[in-house]
Amino acid sequence: MAKYLNIENSAEAVIARIHDEETAPRFKEIMVAVIKHLHALIKEVELTQDEWEIAIDFLTRTGQICTAERQEWILMSDTLGISMLVDALNNRRPENATQTTVLGPFHVAGAPELKMGTNISLDGVGESCLFQGRVLGTDGTPIAGARIDVWSDNADGFYDVQQPGIQPKWNNRGIFTTGADGAYHFRGIKPVSYPVPVDGPAGEMLTGMGRHPYRPAHTHLIVTAPGYQKLVTHIFVGDDPYIDSDAVFGVKETLMAPFQKAEGGDTVWECPFDIVLAPVQSR
Ligand code: BEZ
Ligand code: FE
Repeated sequence: MAKYLNIENSAEAVIARIHDEETAPRFKEIMVAVIKHLHALIKEVELTQDEWEIAIDFLTRTGQICTAERQEWILMSDTLGISMLVDALNNRRPENATQTTVLGPFHVAGAPELKMGTNISLDGVGESCLFQGRVLGTDGTPIAGARIDVWSDNADGFYDVQQPGIQPKWNNRGIFTTGADGAYHFRGIKPVSYPVPVDGPAGEMLTGMGRHPYRPAHTHLIVTAPGYQKLVTHIFVGDDPYIDSDAVFGVKETLMAPFQKAEGGDTVWECPFDIVLAPVQSR
């Protein structure tokens, strides 16, 4: 190899500076791949000096917009499909188990623990929906003591934490625990589609690629039970106009639920959805 960095040897020149004795093997493996792929990318597109400056400015602004409430790097990862790829690599579940999808930035720990059947729509706005089903093991056994942490947007497409002072705290959120039959039911609203935040660099990137920022309507769930793998998932409204173009690539065929018109009463919709958990030892 030439003594100094040139176009041909650029990645190897940088990789050669890694000192094995002071570098954790896994960190080395990741950094070698990062260096190889970044150098290959820059050569592939023949990056200009101006483009390099634009990229540095873009990355700088991505960091600067981050706060405790705003994680633009995760949004970048989500909209580039990286979050879903990491999720897929790390959650290979049995075929009949409910599949995972992105957590998203709007989960809040410590939601109220509610009695089965409670209405989580505190503002009373939106089309009411009865969510019901059972939490089961992959062998069909009902799971008692499963905790179902649910959250969704309101009828205007905002989570309560995006509209403090406008929506009641804990609007469309709650935690339900199954009894011996594994059954659950609660009332909420049929969720609506909404855009991911677009007032930062991720929004610029989407616009630059002619992409819309919308997520198809969904209700989020985190389901936990002793002896079972934690499930982070959504129930999607299958006929949503954005179902095939989710801005964060979170849709899976098996996560689309039928939202059926309810007969009579105050509830407009019914959403039957069984949740199947994989045991801890299976992958
Ligand atoms: C969400 O579904 O809450 C979400 C997921 C990824 C990015 C933004 C929002
Ligand atoms: Fe969401």
